[in-house]
Amino acid sequence: MPVTSDPRPIGVFDSGIGGLTTVRELFRVLPHESVLYFGDTARLPWGNKSKETVTRFSLEIASFLERQNVKCIVVACNTASSHALDTLRARFRVPIIDVIEPAARAAVAASPRGLIGVVGTLATVGSGAYPNAIARLAPGANVISRACPLLVPLVEEGWLDHAVTRAVAEEYLAELRNAGLESLILGCTHYPLLAPLLSRLMGPGVTLIDSGAEAARATAHLLAERGQLASTAAGAKAPVHHFFLSDEPRRRSFATIAQAFLGRPLPHVTVVDQTDLPWFERPHRQPTLSGGDTL
Ligand code: DGL
Repeated sequence: MPVTSDPRPIGVFDSGIGGLTTVRELFRVLPHESVLYFGDTARLPWGNKSKETVTRFSLEIASFLERQNVKCIVVACNTASSHALDTLRARFRVPIIDVIEPAARAAVAASPRGLIGVVGTLATVGSGAYPNAIARLAPGANVISRACPLLVPLVEEGWLDHAVTRAVAEEYLAELRNAGLESLILGCTHYPLLAPLLSRLMGPGVTLIDSGAEAARATAHLLAERGQLASTAAGAKAPVHHFFLSDEPRRRSFATIAQAFLGRPLPHVTVVDQTDLPWFERPHRQPTLSGGDTL
């Protein structure tokens, strides 16, 4: 008999707590699902790291999630979706949902003339993942991208409508504001918190696309298609959520920021014992010395 429901949790990962914006959207569209979240607070930010590093981190976390028996993995981090998606899909049997393709699709739908802006981390913008995804869906589209690396720390500082954040955003968006855009993809976990500010700057004619919200809808669609939604029958178990971090947050404002991302107070968080994580399970290699090096 085909599977018609699946009580296992949805796995979600991000470089830190920004991916909670995606979890908030999952809670909205899939209120009966359990979520198991991993935020790599020990190694964030990823947005200025190389493809190789981001791919390695993503593989390590995906294997942690797979060992927790999740039914699918949502790559909430735009940087990881940009750099590691193909490798993740090649290595894991569990379905992997990214943020790029769903957001690109929504932007194309919202932009009849194909005038689309993208903002994200240096890594996301440098990868060209969004323009490539948009080109596959709408070959004639005109995409303008801008990396906005200072916005992540400003959001983590809680400066959502602060004069400094406004000045930084104005500087970053200067070209995009004059480009007659129809939509702007918020290609970073942190930017939905800046949506009111960004929307004011871009004006009413520009539709903001929340990549986390689009990924949540794509997850709902995929699970429904595979007959893997959690049961909603009377007597079915209530959803249970688990939040794992790889390092204990040091800032006092952590709970406030986490609540802003998640839209509700963050429940109990487990700081993982790093010795239990795959990247500590590998045997240590001797460094290879090149030609003239001596010990
Ligand atoms: N989560 C990252 C992203 O969406 C932003 C934070 C970071 O640079 O690690 O690209």
